[in-house]
Amino acid sequence: QNQFYGKSILKETDLSVNELNYLVDYGLHLKGLAKQNIHTKLLADKNIALIFEKNSTRTMSAFTTAANELGAHPVFLGKDEIHLFHKESIEDTAKVLGSMYDAIEFRGFRQSSVEALAKYSGVPVWNGLTDDWHPTQTIPDLMTIKENFGHLAGLKVAYLGDGRNNVAHSLLVGCAMAGVNVAIVSPESLQPAAEVLEIAQGYAKETGAEITITSDLATGLKDANVVTTDVWVSMGEDNWKERIDLLLPYQVNMSALAMTGHLDDGQLIVLHCLPAFHDLRTEVGKEVYVKYGLKEMEITDEVFQSQYGRQFDEAENRKHGIKAMMATTLGTQFIPKI
Ligand code: CP
Ligand code: NVA
Repeated sequence: QNQFYGKSILKETDLSVNELNYLVDYGLHLKGLAKQNIHTKLLADKNIALIFEKNSTRTMSAFTTAANELGAHPVFLGKDEIHLFHKESIEDTAKVLGSMYDAIEFRGFRQSSVEALAKYSGVPVWNGLTDDWHPTQTIPDLMTIKENFGHLAGLKVAYLGDGRNNVAHSLLVGCAMAGVNVAIVSPESLQPAAEVLEIAQGYAKETGAEITITSDLATGLKDANVVTTDVWVSMGEDNWKERIDLLLPYQVNMSALAMTGHLDDGQLIVLHCLPAFHDLRTEVGKEVYVKYGLKEMEITDEVFQSQYGRQFDEAENRKHGIKAMMATTLGTQFIPKI
């Protein structure tokens, strides 16, 4: 059995530095195989429950297609299909699902929900996003950086925008673990939580990653190889006016990219975990933009459509990163050294 076997991945810190790096490489390895139409049924006949309390396009599709390609049977359990969140507790649900399924994915609000599922189900549980963490985003993000630059250590990632949300916190810790220099560039009230920063700083001592938390764009963006952002208002929040006022200066636009100094040397990419508010083609977009007189929010359409954008590779990598995580924690096979 491999060292991942039976593990739940509820946040980055459930993995060691070596394990996180391994999953990045194994994800890219599985992507390479998938491109040749090689799908080894590492999880043949496993049943996997996919619980979605919050909406999802990528995570739901990535878990479903990854499970299928590994030979497993994924079952979608949306909040309107099951009793959880209405009239049954997490603990009872976990005991029942754990007796029928081999593993559980959970996307929802509270981190305590996914922790309780892991505690009471007795099977591996994977966090598909909570208010606090988004680990199945971090691994594919690091994969995307590595497939573009060939390495991770020594590169610099600059994240602009809401620095206190799930994606920012996961990215900060994940970069620190992978030895990637990381700047969170946000107004003071939206900078990372002190306890998360402390975790990241602990890893940074081990890996040599440099961490910068700043409200100054020039400082944060200087020498960055990866510029990334996330929505200004996350699922479950509704404070558009406040966030727009605070975050408009932190929009990923061409002048922000120019501050990296890498516009012309092929050493810059742009990521976005998606969904993104970069134009007027969505209902919420139209409503919010018109109300506040904006055309774009966290990322301009010009940057989104530019030569730097790798957000759709990043989305595709969700599938292969998640596949790596599922195959290692649920598969009984020896996993290859890469
Ligand atoms: N990035 C991400 O988690 O996308 P979904 O919300 O579509 O799953
Ligand atoms: N921070 C965002 C990420 C979406 C993938 C949210 O939680 O809505």
